[in-house]
Amino acid sequence: AHNKPFSCNIVLIGFMGAGKSTVSEYLSRKYNMDTVEMDQIIAEREKMSISDIFSVHGEEYFRDLETNLLIEMQAKTNTVISCGGGVPMRERNVKEMKKNGCVVLLTAAPETILERVKDSHDRPLLEGNKTVSYISELMEKRREKYEAAADLIIETDEKSTQEICEELVQKM
Ligand code: S3P
Repeated sequence: AHNKPFSCNIVLIGFMGAGKSTVSEYLSRKYNMDTVEMDQIIAEREKMSISDIFSVHGEEYFRDLETNLLIEMQAKTNTVISCGGGVPMRERNVKEMKKNGCVVLLTAAPETILERVKDSHDRPLLEGNKTVSYISELMEKRREKYEAAADLIIETDEKSTQEICEELVQKM
């Protein structure tokens, strides 16, 4: 592995299917960093899929778990944190993310997002809503908060994971 080029944790944010988990995995392998996959940790701790957490306990319950986990993750160093897509919607979360991380927003066109999420079955917000128009609508609602939270924005359409990560390292 290469020496890590970052002096802070990398916090990846963006819409579902923007590539947060893929980029996280690549960076951790290449730079020997730890990874935190927020959704995965939450699902493991709750012993339930994200969809089940939403349907059994409701979205607010899930959002509170996210906030608590973010705070817990501030203790980490040399880590790539891959946030769930909704994390930057809470102002509190944005403040917590910035305490120990450089926040990187990954973006993609709704068409690209649809292509990437179409076979996924653990995204309760998109169940029954897998259309370009629904995705664009939700993305527009979130855009301002995503952009305000970001220290750096990287477009991912038509780029390989390697290209995205090279751009990220270069712009840091
Ligand atoms: C959500 C995104 C999901 C997951 C949950 C809610 C969102 O994470 O946290 O389904 O509100 O955008 P991914 O962005 O990893 O799909």
